[in-house]
Amino acid sequence: MQPDLEQIIMNRRSIRAYTQARVDRATIERICKAARQAPSGANLQPGAFHILTGEALSALTDKLLQAADRGEPEDAEYSYFPTPMPPGLKDRQRKAGYALYDSLGITRRDIAGRRAQFARNYAFFDAPVGIVVTIDRGMGKGCFMDLGMALMSFLLAAEASGLGATGIGALANYSRLVHAHLNLPETELVVCGIALGHPDRAAPVNQFRTEREPLESFTSFRGFDVDDA
Ligand SMILES: Cc1cc2nc3c(=O)[nH]c(=O)nc-3n(C[C@H](O)[C@H](O)[C@H](O)COP(=O)(O)O)c2cc1C
Repeated sequence: MQPDLEQIIMNRRSIRAYTQARVDRATIERICKAARQAPSGANLQPGAFHILTGEALSALTDKLLQAADRGEPEDAEYSYFPTPMPPGLKDRQRKAGYALYDSLGITRRDIAGRRAQFARNYAFFDAPVGIVVTIDRGMGKGCFMDLGMALMSFLLAAEASGLGATGIGALANYSRLVHAHLNLPETELVVCGIALGHPDRAAPVNQFRTEREPLESFTSFRGFDVDDA
């Protein structure tokens, strides 16, 4: 029996270690179609998924890893996060980072260890499938919201297919490199990557869970009877 949607939503987590079992193209196509089923303002369906595997993926990851290793300056074309990061959000960011590094036994002072783990982003965490997500540069903020919904549908469809995935915003740190390597039209902006594959369920990095803020902190209810809940 298929698990219900809420269970799929609650089970999904970012996967950062994979087995090398291949993912067949038909499954990826099904997941991409589910992503495209997301609603979008005026049904513009913004965004594109460039799906890489095998040598097509390793040629890109080799370049990215070499660039990071050489300390090449990053060439991000958009800012993912607010700058500067407000203190309350900085706290959430730190918590997520500590949960990740703690799961790997990387201490807070282990700068080399943290750098090495960060470089895993550029290897798409050794997933058998890496996806470069782009959007037309001319799109407005609302269209980024639409693409976010498509990404969520992608992640949930992956989970429902027994696969694991994670978004990789870090890919946009070298967006020009990725853009040039894939020979993308100038109209496309690299937004993020996605790693996709069969989760290595025993890997320590896949064991931790991130926390969420309590309901009261991000909702307000008005006009309800007190005992509606
Ligand atoms: C668009 C997007 C980009 C992300 N970029 C990265 C990234 O570059 N590196 C990383 O390790 N995790 C990345 N993540 C995963 C988030 O850190 C993760 O979703 C968050 O901490 C919540 O954890 P969970 O996905 O396990 O629930 C990204 C997630 C999304 C949706």
